[in-house]
Amino acid sequence: MKDDQVPVTTRLGEYELATPLIASCGTVGSVIDFANVGDLSAYGAAVAKSVSGTPWPGRKQPRLAATGEGMLNGIGIQNPGVEAWSTEIGPQLGRIETDVWGSAVGNSAEEFALVAKTLQEAGVTGIEVNLSCPNLEGGGMFALDPAAAGQVIAAVRSATELPVGAKLTPNSEDIVAVADATAAAGADWLVLGNTVWGAGFDIETRRPLLSGVVGGYSGRPIKPIALRCVWEVSRAMPDVPIIGTGGVVSGDDVVEFMLAGASAVGIGTAHFASPRIGRRILGQLRRYMSRHNIDDVAELIGAVEPW
Ligand SMILES: Cc1cc2nc3c(=O)[nH]c(=O)nc-3n(C[C@H](O)[C@H](O)[C@H](O)COP(=O)(O)O)c2cc1C
Repeated sequence: MKDDQVPVTTRLGEYELATPLIASCGTVGSVIDFANVGDLSAYGAAVAKSVSGTPWPGRKQPRLAATGEGMLNGIGIQNPGVEAWSTEIGPQLGRIETDVWGSAVGNSAEEFALVAKTLQEAGVTGIEVNLSCPNLEGGGMFALDPAAAGQVIAAVRSATELPVGAKLTPNSEDIVAVADATAAAGADWLVLGNTVWGAGFDIETRRPLLSGVVGGYSGRPIKPIALRCVWEVSRAMPDVPIIGTGGVVSGDDVVEFMLAGASAVGIGTAHFASPRIGRRILGQLRRYMSRHNIDDVAELIGAVEPW
């Protein structure tokens, strides 16, 4: 079989994906414009930038900085609110051949639920719930609190018939506890994970790299942290599908995440350097599979050999 014919379909529970690659939220805009510069056919799904119930202004500049081998961002989830998003983006979704998922954020479980319902009406095929935002009622961040995270997923679950993914954070003290609470509340899969808290300073100007000082670190250096999250959760909850996300830049990285227990793998920061990187990564994955006589990509999921 030629490399480009090696089958790569995979599943997240009942949801079938044409490939195990997911274009990660916040790195492909609304997906619509990305379709002109990237190559969406490489992905099983692409996730549009997170939206909230009301418009969020985001943080002041600067809010993006390359540092070390990765990237710091403190955008503050700037977005126009779900009504404006649906009016502008909804009618264009039909011309995108890859599945487009919406990403919901909010400051209360009710806001998340409203956003999910409106995203469904706009025509997305799945809902990712970005739990990395402040809980204005309970305090703290939803993703750090198993009970609050579970309440959000339960509210979203009853607001939509679409499949629901819970996006957790590697900053959790106990990611298995949050994974357990969100799966029990009805999440169809888990996204592990998001950015890692970080900071940086310009030693000439002595200013922080980000206006908000602390932001989310992403890209290659966070891969071992995301792999650890996938490993811990997949061992504890082998039946819950996982999208491994953090620092992926190659087909080998995809294989590594699948061995750790992921059924699909997100690509984020890598898009800023190469919007078409998904095609290259898929080719590398297929070549790995041919080299190792693997004819079903799902054979890789959790297939780690013990010492
Ligand atoms: C500039 C930027 C914006 C992001 N915006 C969002 C967002 O709105 N919602 C979300 O769930 N994740 C967001 N993320 C996180 C990514 O989806 C991804 O989980 C994270 O960057 C780790 O993957 P990576 O190392 O491949 O980038 C953003 C990441 C970056 C770099």
